[in-house]
Amino acid sequence: MTNSETKATLSFSDGSPALEMPIYKGSIGPDVIDIRKLYGSTGMFTYDPGFMSTAACNSSITYIDGDKGELLYRGYPIEQLAVNGGDFLETCYLLLNGELPNAAQKTEFVETVTNHTMVHEQMQFFFRGFRRDAHPMSVLVGTVGALASFYHDSLDINDPRHREVSAIRLIAKMPTLVAMAYKYSIGQPFVYPRNDLSYSANFMYMMFSTPCAPYKSNEVLVRALDRILILHADHEQNASTSTVRLAGSSGANPFACIAAGIACLWGPAHGGANEAALSMLEEIGSVDNIPHFIEQVKDKNSGVKLMGFGHRVYKNYDPRAKLMRETCYEVLQELGLQDDPLFKLAMALEKIALEDEYFVSRKLYPNVDFYSGIVQRALGIPTALFTGIFALARTVGWIAQWKEMISDPEQKIGRPRQLFVGSPKRDVPSIDKR
Ligand code: ACO
Repeated sequence: MTNSETKATLSFSDGSPALEMPIYKGSIGPDVIDIRKLYGSTGMFTYDPGFMSTAACNSSITYIDGDKGELLYRGYPIEQLAVNGGDFLETCYLLLNGELPNAAQKTEFVETVTNHTMVHEQMQFFFRGFRRDAHPMSVLVGTVGALASFYHDSLDINDPRHREVSAIRLIAKMPTLVAMAYKYSIGQPFVYPRNDLSYSANFMYMMFSTPCAPYKSNEVLVRALDRILILHADHEQNASTSTVRLAGSSGANPFACIAAGIACLWGPAHGGANEAALSMLEEIGSVDNIPHFIEQVKDKNSGVKLMGFGHRVYKNYDPRAKLMRETCYEVLQELGLQDDPLFKLAMALEKIALEDEYFVSRKLYPNVDFYSGIVQRALGIPTALFTGIFALARTVGWIAQWKEMISDPEQKIGRPRQLFVGSPKRDVPSIDKR
């Protein structure tokens, strides 16, 4: 970041001295005002619930232009990465290292990740402690956090080599854990990873093969899963990534931090939206019911939202949603499900919403989750696991952001302040006086 020649001056109507604050420029995107001296100089905090105007860090990983509907990983547009950028592991390498790998780097990276796909055999006993109907996200919060108890040799966050090994372990083991969570929920035996398969093909193999029948993977479906992973790999300082950074700012180990990110992602306003979007489509049921549903969405007292629509940053079409709609079409075509009623319903709903004044005036467009549920359902992934797939994809983003934070010399423990509106100091009355 560079210093701007322009400075910001904060003045007060009560005649208190004005405060001059530096402005920094990034490579693209909005400049920031450095308010770090504000409290020391004025005794005041800024007030910004939901971080609507607050940059909490500097980062060189992912950039979003919400007005243009643009998403760049390390400068590369998501459309190019999804279509010509190689597979998900290339995206992982890019996010972690800043550049796309050349052929030799790719081979080495794939080999390293592949050699870490198994989880400790003891891990299966953690799974067996859960009820079979446990939500996969609760299983993942628990089991990913538990990884810290197996890998004491990579927990020194001040050692770059330890950080590297933890990053690889997390990326490599997430598919295994997600597939184990699924197998456990349906009462089938866990399937060990196969290192001769690609990252996405191996995941589908661990999900859908059984010891009693040969499993043949379908290239179109594997590519679709790979695209889901690429599209969800990172998204700058979203709620779960900020959670990972905040947890990591205290020096917590990376497995604990990623478990915290998974917990945050679980919420329906964030990663849970793909599950909610699919349930919504199922509830609407048919194109004829769309007008009534839209009326409910517009009624603020109904509490109904159009799930898979709207985004804190995108005030234009989410570029990932376009790619996901394309993938949705390809997958349904491959499976002979072109007439899938939910896909048709989603397209009709999207069309109506994009023309409706309520959505147009609020700049509400489809986000990635609007179509990803339909794709995942077609791949055979159960609804309850959708957010788990998101967590699997986002692990690389979380860990890249965590690594960036740890090596940032400006990094401090995250500690927001507050505007206190509770009772001033008072004395505790005895129980008979309360
Ligand atoms: N349906 C109906 N109205 C909506 C929706 C929606 N999906 N999203 C926003 N609005 C309305 C709000 O009610 C508000 O209206 P108002 O100005 O009349 O009060 C206005 O649009 C602005 O919305 P905010 O809630 O202020 O926007 P915010 O940035 O806080 O929320 C969020 C963004 C949480 C994503 C919201 O749009 C939402 O809940 N969408 C549905 C859930 C969803 O799809 N989440 C996935 C996000 S993407 C991801 O995690 C990968």
